This record gives sequence, structure tokens and C-alpha cells, in this order.
Amino acid sequence: MVYFSWSGVTARVAEEIARALSADREEIKCYEYKNLLAAVLQMMFARNKELRLFPLQYQPENYDLVVVGSPTWAGRPPPPVMVYLRRYAAGFKRVAFFSTSASPAEQNVLAEMARVSGKEPVAVAHFHRSVVRLRDFVRQVQEFIARVSGSPGSAA
Ligand SMILES: Cc1cc2nc3c(=O)[nH]c(=O)nc-3n(C[C@H](O)[C@H](O)[C@H](O)COP(=O)(O)O)c2cc1C
Repeated sequence: MVYFSWSGVTARVAEEIARALSADREEIKCYEYKNLLAAVLQMMFARNKELRLFPLQYQPENYDLVVVGSPTWAGRPPPPVMVYLRRYAAGFKRVAFFSTSASPAEQNVLAEMARVSGKEPVAVAHFHRSVVRLRDFVRQVQEFIARVSGSPGSAA
């Protein structure tokens, strides 16, 4: 299980999914995102400049399933998620994606994650942040787990 999270919503979902799958969990971090202003400026004006991610603790190729979680930033996955997917997707055996957002509607983040990684996910899910904050998302997590657990394997 790997995720990016700025304000903790995606991290909360990741924690729940990782617990249900007994999976290792790792946060995507990059050196350039020292504060939200720096992150937004990078996204707006330097999107194509490669970000330096913190070294990974867990290598995706060592797992049969990798779950990737992402918030929605300006209707897309934040740049660090894109960098992670571009760099590591070749090592995914099976992958599942989930997104979180402030708007109730999913805004193409899941499709963008599939496109950038070049992988067809075994399952996807979208979580609205108000549902996560109310801790009212456990059933949704259970449905997601049921879909990703369709075949055997350990999870990252
Ligand atoms: C820079 C920035 C841009 C965002 N853009 C969108 C957006 O376009 N659509 C949306 O629904 N939510 C947007 N959000 C809200 C987040 O996607 C949402 O609150 C998410 O659950 C936050 O996850 P996190 O707490 O793991 O960072 C944005 C948040 C930030 C910080």
C-alpha cells in the first residue's frame, strides 16, 4: 500500500485498507514539497520538472499486489503520485487504485492513474473526504478489499 496525503484524508483510508489487507504501508514524499504553497506553485508552474521522491522502503516488484492511494489536486493526481507511477509501475504485478476528493464526484484521477502507470487496475474506489472524516467509509473499504482480494497474494 502506497499513498500520497497532504492533509491526512488519503492516509486515513490507506491505514484502513492496509489493516484489512495486513499490508505494508508507505507514504510517497518528495523533497520539493516543503509546504502547501511550494507544492501548489510546483504543480502550477513546474509540473514537468521531475520531483525527487524520498527513497522507498518497500519495492513494488516484491509484492503480488500494490494498492496506490491519491488525493485529487486540480482534478488530477498530485505530481508526486504521477512521478511514483511513472517510475515504479513497471514493477507492479497487480495494482488497485483509490482516490479521495473534496467534490463528491470522482474527477478522472483513477483513469489518470491507470493511464500514467499503463496498468489495468484489478479494483478502483473513490472516497469523498466528508465520508472519511465522519469515519463512515468502512463498508466502502470492505467492498474494495473484496474486489482486490479476488486472487491470492501479499499486498504492498
Ligand atoms: C492543492 C489542492 C488542490 C485540490 N484540488 C481539488 C480538486 O480539484 N477537486 C477536489 O474534489 N478536491 C480537491 N482538493 C481537495 C483534496 O483532494 C481532498 O481534500 C483530499 O481528500 C485530500 O486528501 P489528503 O488529506 O490525503 O491530502 C484539493 C486539495 C489541494 C490541497
